[in-house]
Amino acid sequence: MIRNETISSILARRSFKGFKSDAIPEEVLETIIEAGKYAPTGMNRQPWHFTVVTSEEGRTLFKSEIEAIMAEAAKNGPGGPPPAQPAGIVVKPESEMRGAPVLIIVSTDKNVPTAFSDGVLAMGNMMNAAASFDVMSGWTHMVVRSLANTPDKKALWGIPEEYEICAAAFFGYGDGQPKDRGPRKEGTVTFK
Ligand SMILES: Cc1cc2nc3c(=O)[nH]c(=O)nc-3n(C[C@H](O)[C@H](O)[C@H](O)COP(=O)(O)O)c2cc1C
Repeated sequence: MIRNETISSILARRSFKGFKSDAIPEEVLETIIEAGKYAPTGMNRQPWHFTVVTSEEGRTLFKSEIEAIMAEAAKNGPGGPPPAQPAGIVVKPESEMRGAPVLIIVSTDKNVPTAFSDGVLAMGNMMNAAASFDVMSGWTHMVVRSLANTPDKKALWGIPEEYEICAAAFFGYGDGQPKDRGPRKEGTVTFK
């Protein structure tokens, strides 16, 4: 594999379940978001909205919304205990944004057929751009499913009414080690 700055950032990106509380410098965060906006989109429609949670008010809202979602989910049966993690892996509660200073939620226009792909590509761009500044990320799945499923909830997050959340991730400086992700799977490429 040839290495250049871009490839090095892609390879350096890792998922974390725990972050240090250190703030991401404003200019770095703006650059990360701008990189998201430069992802390709079907017919260049750019059918996305980025909700960037950084304030104490936003974090508190996130915590209460996620706790309510978890309480609702618990009614369908208790979830199992969290899986044991290898030594060196720091896991912080999702409701506390895993300790990260930033949460970015990408929502996209449900009337646009390519919207889901467009939004996920934007998130990928942001994750890789972040890694170029040593800022790591962690996908949060519960949010993607449930955080904005009514007009009132969308309004809370500034999400336009016709939009749906397609990706959400925490961003910050990783705490502890990333999990060993092993080698890339073999046999996943066909050249014709
Ligand atoms: C669609 C998607 C869903 C994911 N869901 C979660 C999740 O719910 N919780 C979590 O901690 N990580 C989640 N991840 C992160 C993956 O576990 C991680 O990308 C994978 O283990 C590879 O590790 P790496 O990102 O460090 O290369 C998700 C990633 C993707 C792309």
